[in-house]
Amino acid sequence: MKIVTLIGARPQIIKAAALSRAIKNSFSTEIKEIIVHTGQHYDANMSQVFIDELSIPEPDYNLNIGSGSHGTQTAGMIVGIETILLREKPDYLVLYGDTNSTLAGTIAASKIHIPIVHIEAGLRSFNKSMPEEINRIMADHASTLLFSPTETGLQNLIHEGFDKGNQPPFSADHPGIFHCGDVMYDNSLFFKKIAVEKSHILNELKLEGKPFFLATVHRDNNTDQPKRLNAIFKAFLEIVQENRIPLVLPLHPRTARLLHKNLNRKLYRDLQQEENIRLIPPVSFLDMIMLESRCEMIFTDSGGVQKEAYFFEKPTLILRSETEWKEIVKQGCGLIVNADKSKITDAFTYFQKVGETLKFPNLFGDGKAAEFIAEIMIGNKLVQADA
Ligand code: UD1
Ligand code: UDP
Repeated sequence: MKIVTLIGARPQIIKAAALSRAIKNSFSTEIKEIIVHTGQHYDANMSQVFIDELSIPEPDYNLNIGSGSHGTQTAGMIVGIETILLREKPDYLVLYGDTNSTLAGTIAASKIHIPIVHIEAGLRSFNKSMPEEINRIMADHASTLLFSPTETGLQNLIHEGFDKGNQPPFSADHPGIFHCGDVMYDNSLFFKKIAVEKSHILNELKLEGKPFFLATVHRDNNTDQPKRLNAIFKAFLEIVQENRIPLVLPLHPRTARLLHKNLNRKLYRDLQQEENIRLIPPVSFLDMIMLESRCEMIFTDSGGVQKEAYFFEKPTLILRSETEWKEIVKQGCGLIVNADKSKITDAFTYFQKVGETLKFPNLFGDGKAAEFIAEIMIGNKLVQADA
């Protein structure tokens, strides 16, 4: 069986590592994987570092699409992906998450009848002003095999008309939906030990054995709206100044570019001058895991980082008005604080008080989501061949 795996943005490269590893270790005689990188992310610290560090095979193709408006970026990808799919004629196109690369793959493959496998299916924010919400709905509704990391995701699909009772052979008109756990959890388990051996980030930042907080901000409605961006960074500065504990911020290039433009001048200067605000370039996955697992608390608008906070049993402040990862909030380990300065500082104080008492029961599978996905893909091909 031949699959084409589409990657493009940082989290997709990381997620793809789990299935590539499962194929290499357990399914190399059954599955040949071709990797296509759209080039949506292209800086070395947003792309190549993950391919090298997570032992993902070098992409067979790179479309080098780069940055652009939604239309320009997505359209360029569709053209390139279609050409590759027509040449490679895979049994499946495997898509991750909800980026413009996911949407481009969805459109390219569905029009030429290549079955789509959507990993991270069923997630919904119920906020269609998010570009990702549109991308993920489109991907789910064109897919043949849908793998949800959570029970909530599976239920969302059922509410949208997907039938859990469908039996193979599956197709785009008769899709199979599965709750299989999270490939990101597979990765966090797998790379946790390796990170302790290989990462030097805590030494480099002189934080070994010291308390610190971690934050990431990159969501377009935070970076592009000055009011929101100012509120978030004012809260960060206040927390750091009151507690004298460092806050590490690996900055997505989008945020790095917009901080200077969208923060008011005084706040920008104060942030630069505050030694406990550590603005650093994006870090590798092993470094990120070390920071997540050793910090006291996490502030983030990232989907992936919210979950990793949970995997590493850290309270998380979600810098958004809603989340797809409702289980984390329900469990009391994440609080939605939006871009509201008082909510951020109040939630921080709350978690400082109750942090030690939080419980993090396993919600994201058994660390073998990728193996499950590979088995279902193979099983469906076998049933199709028999039919
Ligand atoms: C994209 C995804 C988002 C995901 C995020 C992961 C969409 C619509 N959004 O957002 O869902 O959470 O990736 O990180 O697909 N840039 C660089 N170098 C790079 C990549 C980007 O400088 O290697 C800068 C460019 O100025 C670019 C901006 O970041 O315009 C935004 O990049 P883009 O890929 O369009 O969206 P993200 O914000 O990264
Ligand atoms: N990540 C990383 N280095 C960083 C920031 C994030 O390796 O400097 C990882 C993080 O551990 C997670 C993934 O990138 O696995 C999340 O990606 P991102 O926040 O860019 O996107 P999202 O998950 O919101 O789509």
